[in-house]
Amino acid sequence: MKCIGVLTSGGDAPGMNAAIRAVVRTGLDNGIRVMGIQRGYSGLINGELFEMDRRSVADTIQRGGTILRTARSKEFKTKEGRKKAVNILKAFGIDGLVVIGGDGSFRGASELAKQDICTIGIPGTIDNDLTYTDYTIGFDTAINTVLDAINKIRDTSTSHGRVSIIEVMGRNCGDIALYAGLAGGAESIIVPEKNYDLNELCKTILEGKIRGKRHNLILLAEGVGGADELAKKVQEITSIDTRATILGHIQRGGSPTCMDRVLASQMGYRAVELLFEGKTSRAIGIKFGKIIDEDIEEALNMPRNFNEKLYQIAMALSY
Ligand code: F6P
Repeated sequence: MKCIGVLTSGGDAPGMNAAIRAVVRTGLDNGIRVMGIQRGYSGLINGELFEMDRRSVADTIQRGGTILRTARSKEFKTKEGRKKAVNILKAFGIDGLVVIGGDGSFRGASELAKQDICTIGIPGTIDNDLTYTDYTIGFDTAINTVLDAINKIRDTSTSHGRVSIIEVMGRNCGDIALYAGLAGGAESIIVPEKNYDLNELCKTILEGKIRGKRHNLILLAEGVGGADELAKKVQEITSIDTRATILGHIQRGGSPTCMDRVLASQMGYRAVELLFEGKTSRAIGIKFGKIIDEDIEEALNMPRNFNEKLYQIAMALSY
């Protein structure tokens, strides 16, 4: 191994810079060259590469976003696009590639591995939707951002005696809603993994009011439906003033938490170690506090695993 590349792809996540920093510095410490690839697979296809040194990643561990920038590439999904990418990697003498991103980025990494490019995936997505790992980089920062918003919304919701519906990201994964909902004391958590009944939800809200609850917070994962629409229905049925807040991309930014920086540093370091061990097509993760790696294809094929127990606890405690 003489030269490795690193890229970030798909939706950005706080902590990606800490992972890039770890890859770059671990690579350089082991005497190899490290190329930064800009704008994910799009930039790779267009040859947007530059050589990185220790200073390229100075002052980045605390920054959200990704210094390498990111993109979603349609061209890379085609055979021709991937051929171009492989040619660029070969032209630059890159023998190993570290891909930081979510499931789509991992699919790309797996395709490149099939064409004899050693690839390692680092899970960088706020969604926490990769089953093989307990946590993805960015998730902890995102749930803390949501928690901060919940605390603020709770104040105004209590003052007015309102129902507040807070829509959070997560596509088909309810983890952001679940964790932030439990930590924020939400009365209801609506996630794609569990069916919900509108009448039951309204009954819970009304019963809470009778028991003396001054506010009612509902965490809604975006995969289930829109907060505005749900707010209208809830207000119609309960006659309680209801407001919707869509947190949106605020969840993707900000300085990464300590947990995300530590996780990203460990994963970036391990990615380079794996390349030195001659491994390819591996996805790095964390299980029961230990850094692990798994075959990328197997990691992608694992069925979703919703934390039912955590959901039950959240519901029991919010009563
Ligand atoms: O990063 C993942 C994610 O935040 C999803 O939860 C969301 O659906 C999606 O990205 C939106 O991303 P964009 O607006 O960049 O397409």
